[in-house]
Amino acid sequence: MANDDFEALTARYGYPLYLYNASAIVAQLDSLRAALPGFECFYSVKTNPHPGILALMNNAGTGADAASAAEVDRAARAGFSPDRIMYSAPGKRREDLEQTLDHCILVADSYAELALLQRMCEEKNRTASVGLRVNPNLAFGPGTSPELLPGAPAKFGVDVESLPAYRAFFASLTRVRLCGIHVYVRSQVLDHRVLCAYLEHVLDLARFCVTDIGCKLDFINFGGGFGVPCAPADSPIDWQGLRPLLERVAARGDDLKPGRLRFIVESGRYLVAAAGTFVTRVTDVKKSRGRIFVLAPGALNNFMRPALMNLFASFPHPVPVPLEPLYSGIDAFAVSIPGREGEEKVEVTVAGTLCTALDCMAASVALPLPRVGDILCVNNAGAYACTLSPHEFAGLGRPKELLLAADGSVSAYPEYVASRRRRPLRKNRA
Ligand SMILES: Cc1ncc(COP(=O)(O)O)c(C=O)c1O
Repeated sequence: MANDDFEALTARYGYPLYLYNASAIVAQLDSLRAALPGFECFYSVKTNPHPGILALMNNAGTGADAASAAEVDRAARAGFSPDRIMYSAPGKRREDLEQTLDHCILVADSYAELALLQRMCEEKNRTASVGLRVNPNLAFGPGTSPELLPGAPAKFGVDVESLPAYRAFFASLTRVRLCGIHVYVRSQVLDHRVLCAYLEHVLDLARFCVTDIGCKLDFINFGGGFGVPCAPADSPIDWQGLRPLLERVAARGDDLKPGRLRFIVESGRYLVAAAGTFVTRVTDVKKSRGRIFVLAPGALNNFMRPALMNLFASFPHPVPVPLEPLYSGIDAFAVSIPGREGEEKVEVTVAGTLCTALDCMAASVALPLPRVGDILCVNNAGAYACTLSPHEFAGLGRPKELLLAADGSVSAYPEYVASRRRRPLRKNRA
């Protein structure tokens, strides 16, 4: 997009704002599907729950990976049918279960939750088919090492090694049928060998559930973790390299797929991270003791991740691997001034307009000397960006989130608020 387009958008919708490029999202989805034939792709709603993006995913036929009852609701209202919404989260409340049981595939996160579901079903004189999140005996090696390490303690799911001791418990679940397993270890994996080793491990785990625990599985949700380059040294996932390894995984899974066993992966950042641009405008430029400060609204409060990255980097002992769902380094978010690309650059600090030093978009970045009124764009703003930010801070509120369609038209989605109006949801047929 040219500078004039950004000027027009900020004049119309105010600033800061987010702009999501639908074509870029579809291209990522196509590449993921092409790389993973035989797998259904579920979009992780928490990454970016914008209703336009949910509608796009629903039209493209993905499923929805929901992390709360509210996300089940959002997905259902965007049109996803119950068999294409999977709800997995730790520590669900009884009301979360009651609200969602008929509107999605529920994934229990503990034995206590399974027992609660059994009691609920007894009380309501009904049955339910649910999945179980399993915490595998696996962790990823550091950096790009394809090595898998023994699993760590986790608040998610039930430890795989605890399953045999619960055979009698599973048999006692007369109202609840265990119909699938869900596994997820971590995010932002770029090494195809790590991904393949992971998928193979989950397949083995599923086989163990079938043969040793006696589960009759309808689905295996392999999780995902598909990463996107977010540092100059990062390379994208080598899908070509993954293909032969994946074929091996698929062949090994053939014996598990006699009926209609669904192989599912879930993905968020891979699909939407690079499709988002954060747009703001320079409101002041000042010099303090030799440093140039460029001020523009929305740094910490509307796009928190760059500010957090700057904070981590300022620690005397920087955090080696930022925690989920951040997983990005200091240089993940490039600031630019559209239309001034060729000009000579100076080193500046780009900061927000809040009364806190934490409100920093880029501690040190080379830009053409910004002028008041200039448009500032920040890339990689599609995943865990708007949704993860503390918009209410200083009473400033949520920025507009616009969807740029393939034909160049832009939608502002007033339905974002209107969609919260209640209308009956479709129910599971089971
Ligand atoms: C269970 C689960 N599924 C899917 C995701 C989405 O991960 P990503 O955005 O890296 O694809 C996450 C991220 O935290 C997760 O915890």
